[in-house]
Amino acid sequence: MKKITIAIDGFSSTGKSTLAKQIAKTLGYAYVDTGAMYRAVTLYAMQNGFIDEFEFNKTALINNLSEIHLQFQFNPALGFAEIYLNGVNVEKQIRSLEVSNFVSQVAEVSEVRAMLVRQQQQMGKDKGVVMDGRDIGTVVFPDAELKVFMTASPDVRAQRRFDELTEKGQLVSYDRVLENVLQRDYIDTHREDSPLVKAQDAIEIDNSQLTREQQFQKVLDLVNNI
Ligand code: DC
Repeated sequence: MKKITIAIDGFSSTGKSTLAKQIAKTLGYAYVDTGAMYRAVTLYAMQNGFIDEFEFNKTALINNLSEIHLQFQFNPALGFAEIYLNGVNVEKQIRSLEVSNFVSQVAEVSEVRAMLVRQQQQMGKDKGVVMDGRDIGTVVFPDAELKVFMTASPDVRAQRRFDELTEKGQLVSYDRVLENVLQRDYIDTHREDSPLVKAQDAIEIDNSQLTREQQFQKVLDLVNNI
């Protein structure tokens, strides 16, 4: 079967990565989590004192972009690739609530976006890739053969995120998580550069009421019908 490019975009905590990983595994495709790349750049900015709750020194981050080296390395035990920041596996660190709180601000910076979009296009140039993010179907691969746009109600998404974080032992309140989900929705959809928007030819899936298996089947059917 001819290899295609699959773009999965949508709001945060809609289960994009779970779906993308399932599809990639089934088709034998590579999976690229572009959110992890924005998160890793955010972690770099935090580690170097460029961003905290008081200020964000954009200029310092922009001037140091060439120092940031990102890499995905497949972990056979997990069945997907983990992200490395300058040679260090940061897969766990980038999922903290702290990184989640700052990442939208970093994702607004055009220089950061330009650098990451270039790397993403390079990673997907041979097709046979499932990429998830916010701008994959609109900016990174506007010619992708299949574009899926995922939504779910903010309450459902906050509950999923809350369960995920508490499972990992992080002490957070549901209200803080919901606040973070709503705040990220707002910034993601209102930023000037590449705002989160459904591509005209994307197929929307609201998974508030769907099981993982149901949404997986839906997308697999779409792939088989191409
Ligand atoms: O998918 P995620 O929650 O891990 O993404 C983290 C942040 O990165 C999110 O707030 C939006 C941003 N992002 C983006 O702007 N463009 C992408 N392609 C992927 C993520």
